[in-house]
Amino acid sequence: MERAQRRSGIESAIKARGADVYASFLLPHLRPGMAMLDCGCGEATITLGLAEVVPNGRVVGVDIEKDSFAAARCHAASTGRNNLAFTVADGRQLPFYDAAFDAVLCHSMLETLGDPTNAVAELRRITKRSGVVGAASVDYGGLIIAGERTAGPRRFYDIRQQLWRAEGIADPNMGRCLRGLFQQAGFGRVEAFADYISYGTPELIMAFARDRAKECRDREFRASVARHGIASVEELTRLAAIWAEWGEDPAAFFAFPWCRVLAWP
Ligand SMILES: C[S@@+](CC[C@H](N)C(=O)[O-])C[C@H]1O[C@@H](n2cnc3c(N)ncnc32)[C@H](O)[C@@H]1O
Repeated sequence: MERAQRRSGIESAIKARGADVYASFLLPHLRPGMAMLDCGCGEATITLGLAEVVPNGRVVGVDIEKDSFAAARCHAASTGRNNLAFTVADGRQLPFYDAAFDAVLCHSMLETLGDPTNAVAELRRITKRSGVVGAASVDYGGLIIAGERTAGPRRFYDIRQQLWRAEGIADPNMGRCLRGLFQQAGFGRVEAFADYISYGTPELIMAFARDRAKECRDREFRASVARHGIASVEELTRLAAIWAEWGEDPAAFFAFPWCRVLAWP
């Protein structure tokens, strides 16, 4: 891929999933010189934003998948962002000393682990006693879907949740468990809350619907869903058309509940 294309790819990914929205709950607790970890950073669109918030500090992004942060690493180098490093590691066994970080983010990772207990214990171990951990997980129990016809979009999310459970991809109700998990791990103070991230403009609705329709046509998604007997290829084809219609509906609205915790060791 050409360098310019790669750059515009990561820039639009940052716009869609940046620290300003997805780490908004942690940002007020960050100071310019902090040492930070983003555990399970993935594409690292949020990590890049964190590095801007702690310009005199340093941010480490960690993910178990070695290729996940390649584009972000190039973007950081090309923009002269030199307080950011990435490493491959397992969040359940982090390669850092005790109390190495002032602030830690763990966004949308805990729900992907069958048992997140070890990972939460690790987050506490590597955070300074004066530091803070912020974690967030979606909870599909509180989805808001509006429009003239919502049965199709609802069915799609029912299919996705069944697939996540059948394949052990993620727990769609992890959000509500966060407070208990962090309490159990022995954090001194835990504050849990939920915020919605929503799609409510013509541009956002159309892009969201287009992505869902694309998912319904995705070969791998179709094969997995059919293999578990969750839905047929024909039904997914119908759902792709329904998403396209929903994207044109002036009454369409979509919102995801993100459960979040702030925890102090
Ligand atoms: C849904 S993505 C979230 C990425 C990013 N935090 C975000 O919110 O945009 C989950 C990420 O967690 C990573 N992950 C899953 N298990 C992990 C583990 N045990 N240790 C480190 N990373 C892990 C995955 O590779 C994936 O990149």
